[in-house]
Amino acid sequence: MKYIVNSLEETKKLAEKFASTLKKGDVVLLNGDLGAGKTTFTQFVFKALGVNEVVNSPTFAILKSYSGKYVLHHFDTYRISLEEAIEAGFDEIFSNRDAVIFVEWSDSVKALLPDKNIVINIKRIGDTKREFEIIDEKIDN
Ligand SMILES: Nc1ncnc2c1ncn2[C@@H]1O[C@H](COP(=O)(O)OP(=O)(O)OP(=O)(O)O)[C@@H](O)[C@H]1O
Ligand SMILES: [Mg+2]
Repeated sequence: MKYIVNSLEETKKLAEKFASTLKKGDVVLLNGDLGAGKTTFTQFVFKALGVNEVVNSPTFAILKSYSGKYVLHHFDTYRISLEEAIEAGFDEIFSNRDAVIFVEWSDSVKALLPDKNIVINIKRIGDTKREFEIIDEKIDN
């Protein structure tokens, strides 16, 4: 399903709607260029799920974890290799379905992810205009 949003406020509304559909064990892969809005969308979703802490970009930390309605893991795996991800124990985090996981730049860790994910493709259309395509592979069409 594709959604066009015209502002941060509309991204927040979409994130809140999306947050209400999430279940424990869901893995959400966020695709989109630098500055598309992957972190921003995640911040809004995590807030909607009751995270009170500030949700920062995990670009440098690679993984940041929070707790709200669920245990929430936010990855940015742009800078690491598959081997490094395994060394860091991320395979265990991905296979333990007790949390909800968001991953930016998931290409390098594809091999560690469950088969059925939720994929979100974000395109920057203008200053504050974005297209969000949400593909839920858990639903068999
Ligand atoms: N409608 C919108 N939705 C999301 N972000 C928006 C929107 N309008 C403007 N922005 C701005 O676009 C920027 C998106 O940056 P963000 O860090 O979320 O991107 P990213 O996809 O995570 O990038 P990176 O690949 O560097 O991690 C933010 O500065 C945000 O305020
Ligand atoms: Mg980001």
